[in-house]
Amino acid sequence: MEDILLVNIGQLLQIDRGSGPALRGRQMAELPYLADAYLFIQDGRIADFGPMAELDAQKMEGFHARGKRAINCSGRLVMPAFVDSHTHLVFAGERSAEFVQKIQGATYAQIAAGGGGILNTVKKTRATTERELFDMSIPRIWAAMEHGTATFEIKSGYGLNLQDELKMLRVARSLGQLSHATVRTTLLAAHALPPEFKNQKDKYVDHVVREIIPAAASEGLADFVDVFCETAFFSTDDTGRIIEAGLKHGLPAKIHANQLNRSGGVQVATQMGALSADHLESVGQEEIDLLAQHPNTLPTLLPGAAFFLRMDYPPARQMIDAGLALVLASDFNPGSAHNFNLQNIFTLACVPMRMSPNEALNALTFNAACALKLQGELGSIDRGKLANLFITQPMSSIDYIPYAWGQNHVWRTCLKGYWT
Ligand code: NIG
Ligand code: FE
Repeated sequence: MEDILLVNIGQLLQIDRGSGPALRGRQMAELPYLADAYLFIQDGRIADFGPMAELDAQKMEGFHARGKRAINCSGRLVMPAFVDSHTHLVFAGERSAEFVQKIQGATYAQIAAGGGGILNTVKKTRATTERELFDMSIPRIWAAMEHGTATFEIKSGYGLNLQDELKMLRVARSLGQLSHATVRTTLLAAHALPPEFKNQKDKYVDHVVREIIPAAASEGLADFVDVFCETAFFSTDDTGRIIEAGLKHGLPAKIHANQLNRSGGVQVATQMGALSADHLESVGQEEIDLLAQHPNTLPTLLPGAAFFLRMDYPPARQMIDAGLALVLASDFNPGSAHNFNLQNIFTLACVPMRMSPNEALNALTFNAACALKLQGELGSIDRGKLANLFITQPMSSIDYIPYAWGQNHVWRTCLKGYWT
């Protein structure tokens, strides 16, 4: 890996955040930057940065002595690469037929009740080998990298038995080992009730708690646990049991909460200290107040799913006004959001949810790193952090990214010092 000096950076954004905590309320509108800057990458990490005017002869001499290369950014903007803290990126098959059913009026819940939805993908994922699943998934990582994402959380949840849940987690781990992306894995065995446990939900939750969580933890395959806490899926009691089992095995929780109904997901997530409560399309003042009182549970909004399912968007403005620390993620999955491109999420954050570009960028970088406990390692431009960088096409301000929507604004993505 080459050590590299970036010169003539028009704006170097999201600097000096250190290692947290997440940015809340009005802090979300602030985006610290340096104009006309340089940045030095050494051994895959950010070694130094500063104004071009301070790139003196002495610094340049040290740099050349190491025989290294410089890249002229010619005024382009440089910021931390995006962090996608909620994806279901490992799956087999696709569900465009259900998409057409939905156009014709079927709801997500109706499709699920008819054996489609998540269980449709479970059938295909179980029938796919680990190797095939890896081969299907790695191009998704590459494509996301080309759109500026360097860090991914990847959930299981299409196996729904010990063997296939662990298979999915092994694929997710390999994606991190065999690419330059940083990957964190989440066990989502409680995503839907598998057909073998039809009408035996308690028995399945027992199985998750007693067998699947301990196995995933002891093999080091999972970093977090998740539950689809939702009417007709898993109750708040089920969710509480799984969060507790996760904690017992050292796995913090990231919960699918309040997507379709106000079914108590935020209550259980906050009470039990979940790291994040994700979705939040169906919330009222009570849930917002709870999230404000429990700052360690980060509200993660997934506007790609709200868009695709034609649902109301989470009340992002009300949440920021209440002092919350928002995170944005893709929810990339074959059912509700077949899209890995966080630049599109950027626009959805700004247009229907009325977040400012600065707020959205904070939610896609630093706060997203906090939602994976990775803020000491990435998510901002700080000396010592991984050189995970999004270099833009020529533009005068970051506002141009959500504004000129549907285009790829990446010139190059840098992951741990390696370039797309
Ligand atoms: O986050 N809501 C639950 N899980 C996913 C959808 C998964 C699927 O439909 O395959 C979500 O939207
Ligand atoms: Fe999801």
